[in-house]
Amino acid sequence: MLPMPPGCSTLGSMLSTLHRIGNSVVQGGAAGDTGQVTELSVRLRELDEHLLAELLATAVAEADPPEVMPPGDGPPGWTRQRQQAFLQFHRERSIGADTPVETTYAIELDSTVVGAARLEPVGTAVEAGIWIGRSWRGSGVGRAVIVELLAAARAIGAVRFIAVTTPGNLAARKLLASLGADVAVRDGDVVAELTL
Ligand SMILES: CC(C)(COP(=O)(O)OP(=O)(O)OC[C@H]1O[C@@H](n2cnc3c(N)ncnc32)[C@H](O)[C@@H]1OP(=O)(O)O)[C@@H](O)C(=O)NCCC(=O)NCCS
Repeated sequence: MLPMPPGCSTLGSMLSTLHRIGNSVVQGGAAGDTGQVTELSVRLRELDEHLLAELLATAVAEADPPEVMPPGDGPPGWTRQRQQAFLQFHRERSIGADTPVETTYAIELDSTVVGAARLEPVGTAVEAGIWIGRSWRGSGVGRAVIVELLAAARAIGAVRFIAVTTPGNLAARKLLASLGADVAVRDGDVVAELTL
């Protein structure tokens, strides 16, 4: 499984005035403006080669490797080798595999790929994972994505939704707690389980 990335970065500035509405986030006007809002819809699109290229570009520009892929050998950062490993990781686990381990989705915010989410069947459950680029964190995108993931999990007949994070990942913990999930610490990880 793709380990839940350990950290959360600073709040994104680009979308810092967004308010959550369902599976969308809505940009609110500042005091004194016309009050118009621009709805930015969050969409999950099943990963393909085209989206994978966009996803890599977003990962390189907006995330640290440990947040979005398993650890590997070599120097830190987005070396050419690590970028290749990122592509290979997704090809082996989802888009190019004869028997995919998981379904991976590119997260699109108004047609921009801002991160990725995944659902991995584990018996009658699904395990979920998610990462969002720094500029878009802390603005409700994660919550909107979880709503979509829950719907996707139900659609494939899963009966439980599981997500794992680390104790220090406050954003992930808040996100998981707000689902009404049972949350427990197991072997140093925070494990959230929700009956669907
Ligand atoms: C974890 C992550 C997916 C959350 O997505 P997000 O879009 O940033 O989260 P949201 O804006 O929807 O906020 C979810 C909750 O976390 C809180 N939160 C967001 N960023 C936070 C931060 N840096 N510190 C503390 N709390 C934070 C929000 O206030 C909200 O809580 P609330 O419902 O009580 O108001 C995202 O920050 C991320 O991709 N981080 C790096 C990768 C990672 O850690 N992935 C593991 C996810 S399990």
